[in-house]
Order: sequence, then C-alpha cells, then structure tokens
Amino acid sequence: MAQDIYLTGITTTGTPHIGNYVGAIRPGIEASKDLSTQHFYFLADYHSLAKNEDPKKIRQSTLEIAAAWLALGLDTDHATFYRQSDIPEIPELTWILTSMTAKGLMNRAHSYKASVQANLEGESKDPDKGISMALYSYPVLMAADILMFKSTKIPVGQDQKQHVEMARDIAGRFNHHYGEVFVLPEPIISDDTAVLKGLDGRKMSKSYNNTIPLLADEKTLRKLIMKIRTDSLAPEEPKETRDNTLFDIYRAFASTEEVEQIAQRYTQGIAWGEMKQLLFETINAQLKDAREDYLRLLAEPTLVEEELLKGAKKARDLATPYLRKIREAIGIRPLG
Ligand code: ADP
Ligand code: TRP
Repeated sequence: MAQDIYLTGITTTGTPHIGNYVGAIRPGIEASKDLSTQHFYFLADYHSLAKNEDPKKIRQSTLEIAAAWLALGLDTDHATFYRQSDIPEIPELTWILTSMTAKGLMNRAHSYKASVQANLEGESKDPDKGISMALYSYPVLMAADILMFKSTKIPVGQDQKQHVEMARDIAGRFNHHYGEVFVLPEPIISDDTAVLKGLDGRKMSKSYNNTIPLLADEKTLRKLIMKIRTDSLAPEEPKETRDNTLFDIYRAFASTEEVEQIAQRYTQGIAWGEMKQLLFETINAQLKDAREDYLRLLAEPTLVEEELLKGAKKARDLATPYLRKIREAIGIRPLG
C-alpha cells in the first residue's frame, strides 16, 4: 500500500473560525500525528482573489490563519506548511489542468451555482453579475493544489466535497489522455462535524459574517455564543436536538458521553441560556492555551513568515521536478 498523503487548505478571506477548525484544522493536525503519513497544509491566498478581497484583509487573514495552525500545535518539521502563492508551480499546473477541464463540469459547481442563484434572486437579474473567471474556475486551482503533491486524503468540511470530486474527475481525464501521471484524491469528512452552522443558523462562513472566531478572547467568545439564534421555547419545554445550532456545535467539541447527557437534558427541557454557558465553557477550555500562543504569533509576523518560507522550500523541492514530468507528458519539453 502506498503511503497516504493528507492535504488541505484554507482560503485567506478572513479570521479563522470554529467551522474551519472542526472541518479542516483539527482533523489535519490530528492526522499529522501519524508519522507514517505525509501532510501538506497551506494558505489558499490565490483562491482568496476570486472574491476581489481588500489586499489588507488578505494579508491579515494569511497571518491569522497561519498563526492559528501553529498555535494549535501543527508540527512543521513533519508537516509541510506553506502559502499557495509561494509555489509558482501551482498556477502553472492550473493552466495545464484547465485544458483538461470540461466547461460543463464547472457549470455544475455548487459554489458557482449559488452565486448565479443569488444574482437571479437579486435586483439586476444578471446571472453573471460579480462573477469573475477566478470564481468560475476556482475548482481547477483547487485541483492543482491537490494533484501537485500527489495527495490521497483531503480533510475538508462537507461544503468542499464536490470540489475534491472534481479534482478527481480532472485527474482521471488527464490520466486517460496522457497516461498515469496523477494520483486520485478522496475527501475525508467526519460526519459529526459535517457543516457547522453560524450565529444566524446558516453555514458558518467567513463570507456570511456569522462566525465564531476560533481564537477570540474569552469575552468575545462568550458574547458571540450568547448571540446564537434560538427559538422562544420556555426553559422547561422539551427541545429538539436535530438541526439545533447550539447542539451541533456542542457535538463538535464534546465527548460522546457528554453529548448523550445533553441530548437527555434537551428532552427534559434545558434553558437556552444554560446551554449557551455550557457551550462557552466547553469551547473555552479546549482553546484557552492555544489562544496565548496565537496572540504572541500575531505580534511577531516574522516568525510566521519564517515558518511559511521553510514550508515553501520543502514544497517546491517536490513540485519543481514533478511539474517537469507533467510538462513532458503533455508535450512541452526541450527540443534537443
Ligand atoms: P469559509 O467558508 O469560512 O470561507 P473556507 O472556505 O476557507 O471557509 O474553508 C476552509 C475549510 O474549513 C474547508 O475545509 C471547509 O470545508 C471548512 N469549513 C468552512 N466552514 C465550515 C463549517 N461551517 N463547518 C465545517 N467546516 C467548515
Ligand atoms: N476551497 C477551499 C475552501 O474554500 C480551500 C482550498 C483551496 C482547499 N485548495 C484546497 C481545500 C485544496 C482542500 C484542498 O474551503
């Protein structure tokens, strides 16, 4: 059996939140403790251009997301930890893959379809409003991220599953056409953390302004948890655990026994205020130590930069020769 290679990225569009943590960072760090596997974790800063973010915001987000991975204990001697834009082979590979990507495949991407839908429901009725080619072909860049390092396992939240399947499709088509060059990846999604909902009950996302920042100070964390939307059932009334944001977030942080106990409390009737306090205490206890390291790293960006450059060197040592091989396969090679 070939060795498994784990890879995942986070787009640098805002402050990392607890959805990013349970969907990508926590499973990534957990998996990287197995020294018999290889790990690639990166900041998807080229992806952040799809929405034309403010440059200052991209820089700050890069720093915050990198500091979060480091503060939460990623071992960068074992895992390769880098910034996408430091690896020029990735955009090169993107173009090569673009030639093997059916336009129809991109038409079916959920994230693109959601933007079109929002436009149709909006005032202008123009389906293409605000949709850049970067947003449209976003899954091709993501496929290049994945295929560049021959990754087999991609820990992501449920929302990214389709993108990983697209990478697999593109790789399959390329291999069919040019011979076995790429390794086919598969998504790793843990079902208890499928998609965490945010303060307003929609998917927690940097794009929706409804997040609980991962390493927010205690006061902010508590304040935001208190803001999570609930219904107006009286404390003693029985409550549903299904589709309940508080319960879902709790489940992502508590043990199975704790979750069972709380499920019982729901049937007996639990006050939302009490549940919120419990959720705050549970999350806070798990993140308290990392928070201090995080703040220290934010104040010393050169330390973070050094880590990223170390990772870029390791990543390029692999990407450069592999890209040469890929170019050979498509007929772009020296003449003599
Ligand atoms: P965002 O939607 O906040 O911009 P990203 O798209 O950068 O987040 O996602 C980075 C990683 O975090 C991906 O693996 C994604 O699946 C995961 N993720 C994002 N939001 C959530 C969520 N609400 N629940 C679980 N995982 C999430
Ligand atoms: N598109 C992912 C997201 O927004 C981030 C990402 C970019 C990624 N490249 C990737 C995730 C490669 C996994 C593998 O969440």
